[in-house]
Amino acid sequence: MPAFKELVFSGVQPTGNLHLGNYLGAIKRFVAMQARSECIYCVVDLHAITLWQEPAELTSQIREVTAAFLAAGIDPARSIVFNQSQVPQHAELAWIFNCVARLGWLNRMTQFKEKAGKDRENASVGLYDYPVLMAADILAYRATHVPVGEDQKQHLELTRDIAQKFNNDFAGAIAEQGHGEAFFPLTEPLIGGPAARVMSLRDGTRKMSKSDPSDYSRINLTDDADAIAQKVRKAKTDAEPLPAEAAGLDRRPEADNLVGIFAALNDATREEVLRDYGGAQFSAFKGALVDLAVAKLGPIGAEMKRLVGDPGHIDRVLADGAARAEAIAAPNLAAVKDIVGFVRRR
Ligand code: TYM
Repeated sequence: MPAFKELVFSGVQPTGNLHLGNYLGAIKRFVAMQARSECIYCVVDLHAITLWQEPAELTSQIREVTAAFLAAGIDPARSIVFNQSQVPQHAELAWIFNCVARLGWLNRMTQFKEKAGKDRENASVGLYDYPVLMAADILAYRATHVPVGEDQKQHLELTRDIAQKFNNDFAGAIAEQGHGEAFFPLTEPLIGGPAARVMSLRDGTRKMSKSDPSDYSRINLTDDADAIAQKVRKAKTDAEPLPAEAAGLDRRPEADNLVGIFAALNDATREEVLRDYGGAQFSAFKGALVDLAVAKLGPIGAEMKRLVGDPGHIDRVLADGAARAEAIAAPNLAAVKDIVGFVRRR
């Protein structure tokens, strides 16, 4: 495999409230990566419409996710921030990848099965094809690294399978046109840290999710201090005090989740948290967690509210980002078209 230029890409859907899982599993890590790498962060509105979205609500959600990126510390002068539908190469490459990916691969995707539920015949074709568009998002930039939460792991494996099959199927043209052994990198997923899978506050065996009907299951980025305090205090726990070591969290999903959230908010490990709180009762630990969560999330929520009050500014950030994104994706798509054998306007 030839060396590809290091490039980070990730995306967040503008559907429903952003929550602590999105922040700790993804957005907070996006911010940290800017110091080391060139980064592209996308509001994936084309993915959003795989499930019905009320149009006016979708517009405001796109701006709200953008505001969350900026409020969390993504610098749009350094990183590229844009919404997917403004860069036509995503959808164009997705079509080509539809003809590379196999039905059998998509049939194995667990997220489609969860989201389509029992009424699969009535799911949109887009929902089924979702992971192919995701591969196109990443590979339109030939991105080498993708920071995501644990729930995206299977989609990133599919992205690698598509890249590999494209590289194999078109190996002759790729070499002839001077791209060496491979046109697409085999992108590395970056899944990690203490909050790769933040769980529901009501049930430590289920993922914290935008679609959970109970708002008490999640902390939203826009929750105020009172809401954060109430939700943490009501969070499900067990009857034991906290263990002194991380091994003691095995088979205690709710305790494990709260300690993981504390660790991720505080840039620490579970072990470090338990060094301070091992032996503590949940009442004391939850008090400390409320203080920490309010200190870390309060300023982000407040800045998000300020930014969504200035949609003109947000839209200019997105337009500037889209132009810079397209400047990278367009030549890549032109090369892909040559590799596939299309005749191109020159
Ligand atoms: P989305 O919008 O569902 O979630 C955005 C990011 O948040 C992470 N995440 C979590 N992390 C930890 N614990 C949780 N409970 C939790 N819930 C969500 C997700 O893993 C994700 O990183 N398919 C993607 C969007 C996407 C994308 C891409 C991502 C489209 N194209 C290309 C990367 C690269 C999604 O639905 O994320």
